[in-house]
Amino acid sequence: MKIILLGAPGAGKGTVAKLLSEFDGSVQISTGDILRAAVMEGSDLGKEAQAYMKRGDLVPDSLIMKIMEERLREPDCAKGFIMDGFPRTIPQAEALKDLLEKLSISLDFVANLDVPREVVLDRLTTRRTCSNSSCQEIYNIKSSPPADDNTCTKCGSPVIQRDDETEEAILNRLDTYNAMTAPLIGFYEKEGLLRSFRSLQSRDTVEDIRKSLKG
Ligand code: AP5
Repeated sequence: MKIILLGAPGAGKGTVAKLLSEFDGSVQISTGDILRAAVMEGSDLGKEAQAYMKRGDLVPDSLIMKIMEERLREPDCAKGFIMDGFPRTIPQAEALKDLLEKLSISLDFVANLDVPREVVLDRLTTRRTCSNSSCQEIYNIKSSPPADDNTCTKCGSPVIQRDDETEEAILNRLDTYNAMTAPLIGFYEKEGLLRSFRSLQSRDTVEDIRKSLKG
């Protein structure tokens, strides 16, 4: 599959992308995970991105496009991909359109995960994430806690709250989403690529997306 997941912070993009990738070997490409791994490793990219992320602001488009062009050229993307957290602005969506044309790749569709604001707020304050940069498994202390309190069930590393999960940063991320990312819904509608999914149970959403791919 070759799809983009759109949705507010906390809509469940990361959770749905991980479940979808188990079906046919399509890779999850999460710009958030790539940036967090760079911050944890202390690379030049991480140093540049850190301050933006901590505030809940977007990292500059030029930096993101460089990361994405390199990532899409990697051989594992040939099987398929699920983009999670990218594109995030109209300039990123336009640059992605050009890049996909250059690489002769066509998208199946853009899945917009539609979740009420009060649900995303609750999910973000109760999310926990594995601190291992190459794992970053997602948990939720209410709906899907790790088997052993603060330890990742998958790799055994400590499970933490992300730097951008302060109330101030969460509210800023939601405002940024409304101003910069929500306009992509109209962009992809015009492109004839948009499909919306009411997304309350991740496994149901995964089934709906898979059915939509077949139909
Ligand atoms: P990023 O990591 O992409 O953050 P985000 O879009 O804000 O999305 P989240 O990871 O917060 O949420 P999600 O939708 O993946 O939800 P999840 O599955 O975790 O980006 C972080 C930062 O990086 C940005 O602020 C920006 O600075 C920078 N950045 C990244 N990409 C960029 C780009 N393209 N351009 C510029 N800057 C960029 O689920 C949330 C919680 O809910 C979890 O606890 C989960 O367990 C739980 N949950 C999920 N689904 C359900 C369900 N159905 N029922 C109950 N609980 C559920």
